[in-house]
Amino acid sequence: MALRPKVLLTRRLPQPGIDLLERHVDMFINPFDIPMSRQDIIGGIKDKDGLICLLNDKVDAEVIDAGKHVKIIANYAAGYNNIDVQAATKRKIPVTNTPGVLTETTADLTFALILSAARRIVEADKFLRQKSFKGWAPMLFLGRDIHNKILGIIGFGRIGRAVARRANGFGMEVIYYDPVRLSRDDEDTYGVKYQDLDDLLKQADFVCIHVPLNEQTYHMITKEKLALMKGSSYLINVARGQVVNEKALVNALQEKRIAGCALDVFENEPKVEKELIEMPNTVLVPHIGSASIEARIKMALMVAENVIAVLVEKGRAPNAVNPEIYEEWH
Ligand code: GLV
Ligand code: GLV
Repeated sequence: MALRPKVLLTRRLPQPGIDLLERHVDMFINPFDIPMSRQDIIGGIKDKDGLICLLNDKVDAEVIDAGKHVKIIANYAAGYNNIDVQAATKRKIPVTNTPGVLTETTADLTFALILSAARRIVEADKFLRQKSFKGWAPMLFLGRDIHNKILGIIGFGRIGRAVARRANGFGMEVIYYDPVRLSRDDEDTYGVKYQDLDDLLKQADFVCIHVPLNEQTYHMITKEKLALMKGSSYLINVARGQVVNEKALVNALQEKRIAGCALDVFENEPKVEKELIEMPNTVLVPHIGSASIEARIKMALMVAENVIAVLVEKGRAPNAVNPEIYEEWH
């Protein structure tokens, strides 16, 4: 009997994904519910055929080199900025992600954050729990309307588009910026208008970020960009923390140059700037964009399908982000 492929998983995932994997491969799973240390990943990957990792596992060239037999690196996330894809490509190792299955879930969270920031939900909830609610009052927790306002979407990929569809339902005007402009027909279909980044920042009441993190998007939102925003506007980030210069964001909030922000991601996760925590006009959640039971199960199954396609069926990874490794295939 042929030996079953061995796969290292850096942290337990939803069971349906594990069950599917265990039918085909031998799984070596981090037994602790904490991130696996770099040394443990490097040590653990030595004799494995595949690696399943998380967005907070840094899989750089050194880690990849340690996995002499590794034939797939499957990231349990849509974003894959944690992986040195070039190093993997050099060794013809497919790197896979989980696109599509978390699109709507992440767009839902974007809306939860827009609504929470605009209507001061977190602040108001805290107020009530502190037993400060003494009855209806004309000036109690006045927030901002969402309907009839302008939503600016930076990055019009799958998630950006899913956010646009929700915004249409909320009666918002939607503008977007993306390096690739849609056709006029597609813009009409999505009910959106194109703006360059600066114009979007000047016009939008709510600016939400849906770009992947890469060299082009690192610190895309600087002090200068924040200065273009309206004093009444909000910044929402569910993409990656490093897209925004967090120190500049803190300054803009302190100087009241924008009204508030809602963040799911941070520049130095899990560290969160103390100033952000102390300000009342920030909504802060711990990177839960894709955190629904439904999405996380689909992501786990997708990871499993990619691993099985490569290690068991000896085929292509359906969700390789570096498909150029297959160019020589016929
Ligand atoms: C989450 O942040 C993801 O990229 O899936
Ligand atoms: C979501 O799946 C995205 O990649 O935008």
